[in-house]
Amino acid sequence: MKHKRSDFPQDFLFGVATSAYQIEGHAQGGAGKTHWDSFAATPGNVVNAENGDLACDHLNRFEQDLDLIQEAGFDCYRFSTSWARVLPEGRGAVNQAGLDFYDRLTDGLLERGIRPCATLYHWELPSPLADLGGWRNRDIAGWFADFTEVIMGRIGDRMFSVAPINEPWCVSWLSHFDGHHAPGLRDIRATARAMHHVLLAHGRSIEAMRGLGMSNLGAVFNLEWAEPADDSAQSENAAALYDGIYNRFFLGGVFKKSYPENVLDGLAPHLPADWEDDFETIGAPVDWCGLNYYTRKLISHTDAPWPSLKEVQGPLPKTQMGWEIDPDALSRFLIRTAREYTGELPIFVTENGMASSERQQDNDRIDYLDLHLSALQEALNQGVPINGYFVWSLLDNYEWALGYEKRFGLVDVDFKTLKRTPKASYHAIKSALASI
Ligand code: FCB
Repeated sequence: MKHKRSDFPQDFLFGVATSAYQIEGHAQGGAGKTHWDSFAATPGNVVNAENGDLACDHLNRFEQDLDLIQEAGFDCYRFSTSWARVLPEGRGAVNQAGLDFYDRLTDGLLERGIRPCATLYHWELPSPLADLGGWRNRDIAGWFADFTEVIMGRIGDRMFSVAPINEPWCVSWLSHFDGHHAPGLRDIRATARAMHHVLLAHGRSIEAMRGLGMSNLGAVFNLEWAEPADDSAQSENAAALYDGIYNRFFLGGVFKKSYPENVLDGLAPHLPADWEDDFETIGAPVDWCGLNYYTRKLISHTDAPWPSLKEVQGPLPKTQMGWEIDPDALSRFLIRTAREYTGELPIFVTENGMASSERQQDNDRIDYLDLHLSALQEALNQGVPINGYFVWSLLDNYEWALGYEKRFGLVDVDFKTLKRTPKASYHAIKSALASI
């Protein structure tokens, strides 16, 4: 890699990220069923109808995986806790084996000198709660606060940092409007409610953790830069609306206690009654802001009902996902987020990385990471308080609706034998982190 640790501020943290359903092996260890299990079991939703039953079998191989994190020289590990592993029914009876697993994982990290950075929800909603309407039901905020207390009551004393929810846009819009992720709905009313309730649940979870005396609590957003596909005023408005729906709605809720007007134009009639009253909870102060960044989108107007926009293929080089590579947009986002939303609050890039079909000599990934680290430095030079950077992901894993085909890992996983083999990018990061 071109970069090395000493190019960054002295206390800058480097980490690597994963999530529970994508690696653990969810059919094992007493976890309850989740909406991802039923979504994957429905023909047409997931490539090859693959699911997370075994995934990387991290549940049984986590010691080996933690060794890989340590050997690479990472300071932090961002993992998630599965709600259904801890509370198989979503509420009520606790699966002790689930709590014990996260307890051992935490201690395993600390023994290796790695900071545990937890995300409480990375998408595997317990099925009994999905049956009650899931994110459409306002009660989910209370259920999630209760889950927060159970899991953080056990491991919260040893966390370096915690964020309640990974990527509210994916939990709500992608899953309830686009129908691409569980529960696979395509319904604007469901979407509006999910968008609001996911932020309310975030706020209730922060409250619950403050109640436990915890600190260093944050929020993790996925941002996608929207450019108008042509210079018509209509496309400019369409891109601004995409930006509103994708980025500004969630940042606005948490950091400004308001939603953008252009999004309310379409969603206000579908939001739950008295939604404004929830902003005190949603906007409870956090200690840091996490940004997940992968790509940008070209957007144009289309004659369809609101939001009347569509994505247009862009000309930039693309990853295995077909996502355009645009590191400059990462700098712009870091600068804009600090200027318009977070001020002096520490920012972390909590996910960045690429899918590549290259299983060993992944020089494309090394280039991608280098380019994005340069973009991050550009923002640091402009005074943005960025405290750390996490690569997505440690291992090739279950890439949701795209199954096991799209590989994001620094470490290759052979899904037949589950053998882990570090790729060139793993070795490159390891030397970058070791060199001073
Ligand atoms: C993010 C998700 C993560 C993974 C990457 C590629 O949106 O948080 O689970 O799917 O994209």
